[in-house]
Amino acid sequence: MDTRYDLLLRDAALPDGRRADIAIVDGRIQAVEPQIPAAAAQELACDGHLVSPPFVDAHFHMDSSLTWGQPRVNASGTLLEGIALWGELKPQLTQDTLVERALRYCDWAVARGLLAVRSHVDVCDPRLLAVEALLHVKERVRPYLDLQLVAFPQDGVLRSPGALANLKRALDLGVDVVGGIPHFERTMEQGAESVRILCELAAERGLRVDMHCDETDDPLSRHIETLAFHTQRLGLGGRVAGSHLTSMHSMDNYYVSKLIPLIREAGVAAIANPLINITLQGRHDSYPKRRGMTRVPELLAAGVDVAFGHDCVMDPWYPLGSGDMLEVAHMGLHVAQMTGHAAMRQCFEAVTATPARILGLEGYGIAPGCQADLVLLQARDPVEAIRLRATRLAVIRRGRVVARTPAAVATLDLPGRSGPVDWLASRPEDWLAP
Ligand code: FE2
Repeated sequence: MDTRYDLLLRDAALPDGRRADIAIVDGRIQAVEPQIPAAAAQELACDGHLVSPPFVDAHFHMDSSLTWGQPRVNASGTLLEGIALWGELKPQLTQDTLVERALRYCDWAVARGLLAVRSHVDVCDPRLLAVEALLHVKERVRPYLDLQLVAFPQDGVLRSPGALANLKRALDLGVDVVGGIPHFERTMEQGAESVRILCELAAERGLRVDMHCDETDDPLSRHIETLAFHTQRLGLGGRVAGSHLTSMHSMDNYYVSKLIPLIREAGVAAIANPLINITLQGRHDSYPKRRGMTRVPELLAAGVDVAFGHDCVMDPWYPLGSGDMLEVAHMGLHVAQMTGHAAMRQCFEAVTATPARILGLEGYGIAPGCQADLVLLQARDPVEAIRLRATRLAVIRRGRVVARTPAAVATLDLPGRSGPVDWLASRPEDWLAP
């Protein structure tokens, strides 16, 4: 047998609609062509199911994940009570429990085809316990998951004593990205000052920036304007992200018509976190209640990169979640009312190609030369994957199958309607078929 290839995926439906075989050698994609004639050491029959590059989570908190209920549940459901609760939990954290929870979450992620995560890590604890734990986890999981860490001053880099020094120490230890939280500083001026200091620090060190920015329903929270300004001033375009940006939901439309072009011009990406912000925002509203997610379709229409992040899984801010980026895309699609066909595909990109760009992942995609990191889904295209939150039949990392899940099969026993349910036979093309 010709074993020129290590692995050959047969008859894959690609996210762009093409059908092709995918040939893999030494952990990289070597060819993407219809009906590749050669055999391989291992073949995987895709039978026209979707093969996508892996899911990427642009915004997560791995240090707090899987702590829900410790030491108590968030009674008000607000961001601020969540921050207070996390403050109560921090003194009780240990290296071992941090590592154990993070590794468990990474298991969930890989099983869901989520192979790259940007996680913020709180640097306000002078012991830097969480930083050391997640740097250790980053090395442990490297063979199967790319973990990028953001030095995140949860209690405010200016408001929390020693936070700036701790943040710099975290960067010295190897944390990748500069974080911030300007809306949590004491005043608007201090918030703006924090953005300046942190962007200059990133410029000095040649690092990327990802700030929690304007995660509030206050329409006058305008730190994104300052973030765009310093990004442009320091030439950091393409390396800066504003996370959450929920105040934009409540801003005056006239101001937004000036703001979005400034974000675009500066090259700042936006990261919305639909599961979290649909539950956290609007908590001070009676009715009508604001949705609170940033203006996703408008940012996309202006040419801004917009990713959807998971943000939280079972922590002081959110009791649910399982590392399923299709659930994130599903919620984002609903909250942003992105039900047009092209818009639904953009929601899929918001959990795959777009966050890969924001993280600066090397060799991401399905083309010769790319890393052989792939997910085989029980769906035929990206829209169907979101609709069904499709089963990840196989997850491939560097050319090796690292996780499998059996296909979701339901069998009916009804008069005249017995047998397996065909979840896939419901596309308009099928209705129109002769
Ligand atoms: Fe966050």
